[in-house]
Amino acid sequence: MSNEPSSDTSTTFGFRSVEADERQGLVNRVFAAVADRYDLMNDLMSGGLHRLWKNDLIAQLNPPKNDAPFRLLDVAGGTGDVSLRYARQSGAGSTAVLCDISPEMIAVGRRRIAEAGLESRIEFVEGNAEALPFEDRSFDAYTIAFGIRNVTHIDRALAEAFRVLKIGGHFLCLEFSEVQVPILDRLYDFHSFEVIPRLGQSIAGDAASYRYLIESIRKFPKQERFAAIVREAGFARVSYRNLTGGVAAIHSGWKI
Ligand SMILES: C[S@@+](CC[C@H](N)C(=O)[O-])C[C@H]1O[C@@H](n2cnc3c(N)ncnc32)[C@H](O)[C@@H]1O
Repeated sequence: MSNEPSSDTSTTFGFRSVEADERQGLVNRVFAAVADRYDLMNDLMSGGLHRLWKNDLIAQLNPPKNDAPFRLLDVAGGTGDVSLRYARQSGAGSTAVLCDISPEMIAVGRRRIAEAGLESRIEFVEGNAEALPFEDRSFDAYTIAFGIRNVTHIDRALAEAFRVLKIGGHFLCLEFSEVQVPILDRLYDFHSFEVIPRLGQSIAGDAASYRYLIESIRKFPKQERFAAIVREAGFARVSYRNLTGGVAAIHSGWKI
C-alpha cells in the first residue's frame, strides 16, 4: 500500500500526484530545507503542543527507570526530540538508535544530543523506514513521531517495524490525525492553511515546504483506518488515543 495511492506507480506528495519512486526524493528535499529551523517552527506551528504530545508518547512507552537493558528504535527521529526525552526519562540501561533518512536532520539531532551530554545513550543511523538496516527482533520498542506520513509505502514501514521488534516489543506512532471536535476543526483548518504557510515563509523563507507538511497531514489515514493498517501489519492489542481533540493521536500495538 502506498501513501494513499492513485494508481500502482503513482502516489501523492501533499495534494499533488507524483510517481511513487519520485516521492521520497521530494520529501528529503523538504527536510533538508527545513532542518535548521525545524525545532523553532515546530514550537511556533503547534504553540508548543508538540512538546506535550512527545512527553505523552514517552509516558506511554514507560521505559525502565533502573539499569535494566532496554533498546528503543526511534525511526524518523529527525532532530532528536523523542530520543532526548526518552534518554532523560529512562534508566542507565536504556539506549536508543535514532534512524532517519535525512543527513541534515540527523546533523541537527547529533548536535542537540551532544549538547545534552547524552551521546553515550543515543546512536545515529541514516536509513529508510521502509528497509531498516537492523537485524530481526533486535529492539524492545519502536517509536515513530510525525514520521510515518512522510514514508511512501506505509505497509513496508510497518512490516519493518514488526520485523525488528522482539517478541513482546511495543510499537508506538505519534502522528497528526483527524480533529474530532466541532469548531476546533474549523480553527485548525484556518491555522493549517492560512497561518502555517505564512509562518513558514516569514521564519524559514519557505512556504512551499510547510504547505507540503500540512497537505501530507490531510492525506494521512484517519484514526480508525490507520489502526486497521497497524493490525494488518501483524500487531496485536492495537489501540489509539486522541491528543488535543484529535489534532494528533498515539497509535499503539504489540508484537506478541
Ligand atoms: C516531521 S519530522 C519528525 C522528526 C521527529 N520525529 C519529531 O517528532 O520532531 C519527519 C522526519 O521523517 C524523516 N523521514 C522521512 N521519510 C523517511 C523515511 N522513509 N525513513 C526514515 N525517515 C524518514 C525526515 O527526514 C524527518 O526527519
